[in-house]
Amino acid sequence: MYFFGERSGRQLNPDPSKKLSGPLPGEARQPNESRPDNPPTDWIPCVTVSQANGQVVTASGVSRRYGEGEAAVDALVDISTGFDRGRFTAIMGPSGSGKSTLMHILAGLDAPTAGTVTLDGEQITGLDDAALTKLRRDKLGFVFQFFNLLPVLTAEENLVLPLSIAGRKPDAEWLDRLVRTVGLEDRRAHRPSELSGGQQQRVAVARALVSKPAVVFADEPTGNLDSKASADVMKLLRQAVDEFGQTVIMVTHDPVAAAHADRLITLRDGGIVHDAAPGDADEVIELMKTID
Ligand SMILES: Nc1ncnc2c1ncn2[C@@H]1O[C@H](COP(=O)(O)OP(=O)(O)OP(=O)(O)O)[C@@H](O)[C@H]1O
Ligand SMILES: [Mg+2]
Repeated sequence: MYFFGERSGRQLNPDPSKKLSGPLPGEARQPNESRPDNPPTDWIPCVTVSQANGQVVTASGVSRRYGEGEAAVDALVDISTGFDRGRFTAIMGPSGSGKSTLMHILAGLDAPTAGTVTLDGEQITGLDDAALTKLRRDKLGFVFQFFNLLPVLTAEENLVLPLSIAGRKPDAEWLDRLVRTVGLEDRRAHRPSELSGGQQQRVAVARALVSKPAVVFADEPTGNLDSKASADVMKLLRQAVDEFGQTVIMVTHDPVAAAHADRLITLRDGGIVHDAAPGDADEVIELMKTID
């Protein structure tokens, strides 16, 4: 486990691997005035009272080795951490440091070679493919770098797709609120090819939120956007956390994007080397200089 000293007078977590409960390093951030103490109860469908303020995702001793023998690559090495409900976490690190691997394992898209992951109170490690598919459908939302909208569907059809697949009907009021929140009221019937990159990504964010999932995972959501469109998407994710109590875990290379989060986890060589509130974009840039 690597560990770097203090930055900007912030206290770092002396051993992030032990941080499975209690206040997060990210709580150093001043409480956001607009964040409700009690997120709307209709937002989180699968929460019991005892889980409501707990950790929605935990990784315990997670390692991922690709290949065998001399050619083996240890993409993740003994990662233990947890993610509080209603928090926004950014994950950064050099190329190849294990960010996508970690996100895929937390989301049940890949299995660790050692350790376990729990999601919304359920251990997902060891579940079969059918159970994992159902779990992802029912409990997770995803935002990818290249939007991944279906070209033949309209913006609105793309937006409600997770519900359509699950055979559920969107709640009209909720759908209207989402469309308004992402600023696409006059684009509902447009196809992706008729939308700008920023608009497409806003549809993708709304699609990730529509089923009120336990966690939204975003892998470089601003990686393909200009700075204005990036700022819009980050504001949306921040709003989902503050107003809807959504939990968001985002991989990014963008210090400006990371500065929107409550907490920044930094990886190097498959291990967590830093875990604290991100500070502003300049502080994130300075931090990354010490890690690259
Ligand atoms: N399917 C695979 N087979 C073998 N090695 C892999 C595989 N997927 C990833 N790796 C290796 O695991 C390590 C971590 O990869 P990962 O994709 O998680 O990095 P990353 O931090 O997301 O990088 P980037 O910023 O470039 O997206 C890298 O060394 C990569 O080469
Ligand atoms: Mg990656």
